[in-house]
Amino acid sequence: MTIDASSRCGVGVCNDNVQFYQDNGYLRLPLQAHGMCQSLAELQQWVADIFQWGLDKGKWRHYYESINDKHILWDTEKLIEYHPPMQELLTGDRPFSLLRALTGREMVLFKDEIAWKMPGGKGAVPHLDRPAYSLFAPEFVEIMIAVDAHTVQNGCLEFVPRSHKEAVPISADGRIEPAWLEGKEFVPMLLDAGDILIFNESMVHRLAPNGTDQRRAAVFGTYHFDVSQPDLRDRFYAHRLIYSPPENAWVEEAVSATQM
Ligand SMILES: [Fe+2]
Repeated sequence: MTIDASSRCGVGVCNDNVQFYQDNGYLRLPLQAHGMCQSLAELQQWVADIFQWGLDKGKWRHYYESINDKHILWDTEKLIEYHPPMQELLTGDRPFSLLRALTGREMVLFKDEIAWKMPGGKGAVPHLDRPAYSLFAPEFVEIMIAVDAHTVQNGCLEFVPRSHKEAVPISADGRIEPAWLEGKEFVPMLLDAGDILIFNESMVHRLAPNGTDQRRAAVFGTYHFDVSQPDLRDRFYAHRLIYSPPENAWVEEAVSATQM
């Protein structure tokens, strides 16, 4: 569904924001402007609660990474069923109002997670997020909520502004062709805790490792545009359980997921 441009200046987003997003492919908004949560302390408490979640089976999904022989939490997915405030944060009126204003389209939550980026946490080479999820959603938009400040030192996202408008060549292994990257300037997306950053599946980005001794966490909500598939998130997570299982994967659910 396409929404008339005249109705696009919704809560927290003005016409300049819409223009900036469409021109550059991203938008940063401070907590006071996006209004997705009442306070930073509240958001940080929710995230602290989720960090304590154990390796229960059949619930949320914990993924880990190995850093210098340490096994550290990297990502926790499929949150909203188990945390009502996080569900409201990512599926309440405010995120949809913001995203409708920027994109002019309706959308449905596709993926929800916390990227922990613990001290020493790995970075990522330049990439688009599109190839990772294109089997399910050819187009999507992401809201990243900074739980901690994001700096160059702790591995903030770095964007190539306006790359969302380019036909970026992707090789068979999902990487951006090196020739396209030559001479491109990556701009660090510096964020204060509580800020949000919105971008879509076609933004070229990279991340440095977290070189500090402090966590650099972010909550992500990813939204697809095919409103005829309200259960796409369920099918995506069922598929992911088999092909990209978390630390707390369980055989019984993986088997039943194949029958969906
Ligand atoms: Fe990415």
